Amino acid sequence: MKLVADAIKGTQDALPKESYKWHYIEKVAKNVASRFDFKEIRTPVFEKTELFQRGVGDTTDVVQKEMYTFNDKGGRSITLRPEGTAGAIRSILEHGLFNDALPIKAYYITSCYRYEKPQAGRLREFHQFGVECVGAKSPIADAEVIMLGNSILEQLGINNISLEINSIGCPKCRAEYTKALKKYFSDYKEQLCETCLSRLDRNPMRILDCKSPVCSKIAENAPVILDYLCDECKEHFEKVKSYLTSANIQFTVNPKIVRGLDYYTKTVFEFITTEIGAQGAVCAGGRYDGLAEELGGPALPSLGFAMGLERILLLMEKQGCEFPDDDVADIYIATMGEKAKMKAIELCKTLRDEGFSAVTDYSDRGIKAQMKYANKIGAKFSIVIGDNEIDSGKATLKNMLTGENTEVEIDGDFVNTLYKANTQNILTDIENTALF
Ligand code: HAM
Repeated sequence: MKLVADAIKGTQDALPKESYKWHYIEKVAKNVASRFDFKEIRTPVFEKTELFQRGVGDTTDVVQKEMYTFNDKGGRSITLRPEGTAGAIRSILEHGLFNDALPIKAYYITSCYRYEKPQAGRLREFHQFGVECVGAKSPIADAEVIMLGNSILEQLGINNISLEINSIGCPKCRAEYTKALKKYFSDYKEQLCETCLSRLDRNPMRILDCKSPVCSKIAENAPVILDYLCDECKEHFEKVKSYLTSANIQFTVNPKIVRGLDYYTKTVFEFITTEIGAQGAVCAGGRYDGLAEELGGPALPSLGFAMGLERILLLMEKQGCEFPDDDVADIYIATMGEKAKMKAIELCKTLRDEGFSAVTDYSDRGIKAQMKYANKIGAKFSIVIGDNEIDSGKATLKNMLTGENTEVEIDGDFVNTLYKANTQNILTDIENTALF
């Protein structure tokens, strides 16, 4: 088959037969977020380029190398969002939400765009579930946000994830650290890549997350920020650790985590797996106390995280996690003849109005082929309607899971019988699950 155009490199389709997995992950994530009283925020897929230059930072890989930036027809520079935080904060500031009760707790499910080298778990269009807690200074907020991420991973049934945390300090302690980094990396000027060389003066911390093998080797022995924290940052970090401990959340301190975006201050964290290849961070985030001011708003100490949904899906499939499929049809109505088709379309309407998902044949197939289709789509019940059934007003409702047959009056007890049989299926399912 020669298509006019195939999919763009680094993008993926979520196909109808797989979409229930996405729905499930999104449902669990939203559900857990609402237990922490987070509410959804939706922001545009594109923003003014300056938002990311200022917000994410113009010495980051994301801004320097990975953004999808273009001029629109009005000559404005526009960028497809590479991440969700900058847009969410822009929106919160623009709508003055900081005048309401603080903190503002928002979550989002968004597509993001980064021109990276595609590989397993690294795409050019990917999706994030993210949360932002805006206007919360206390270290208890750090622990809560980390717990939220942890709960989602747990509820999805994911195992073997390690939580690594660090503190990258505030501008005050960062000044001393930057000096130490400059001194350290100056000895390697000849070997650093061109981008890192340009970062040496402006933002040497960015050299620490350069993806070039040479720069990352040099970075291995660089000074670590934890040795430079001021008293306030140290105390904040100690409290975050003790809150996590009291919530029974296991973590390790990894002093090498610096994160790839410039807005972070104090606590940063990553949930890591070794089971899906090199791209092991499935959820990552941290505190960004200066971002709101950087974007022109008031001081709003804030923090959040985002999880890569493709990575979550990959990991769940790898670990054989369950994806309950609520999206299957309740009933397939097979038909023989024109009269039956008329009846089927009437029944479909009644059933759908009652909340069932009902399917009938669109392809003039024989009964055998129709039943094969009903099986393939995993319909829970089926019914065959032909001239006999229409004349007698009776048909057989088949439970496709148990094989049980029940006689129903097509215009009488049909909907009720289906209700009862469906409820019985659900109860059996619950009993079976409870046995484990
Ligand atoms: P990030 O670490 O750049 O942080 O991305 C968060 C997560 O998105 C990663 O841990 C990963 O799971 C996923 N991700 C990132 N890039 C890709 C990619 N190219 N392909 C597939 N998945 C990817 C942020 O985006 C911050 N905005 C998180 C945050 C929210 N910090 C505070 N609030």
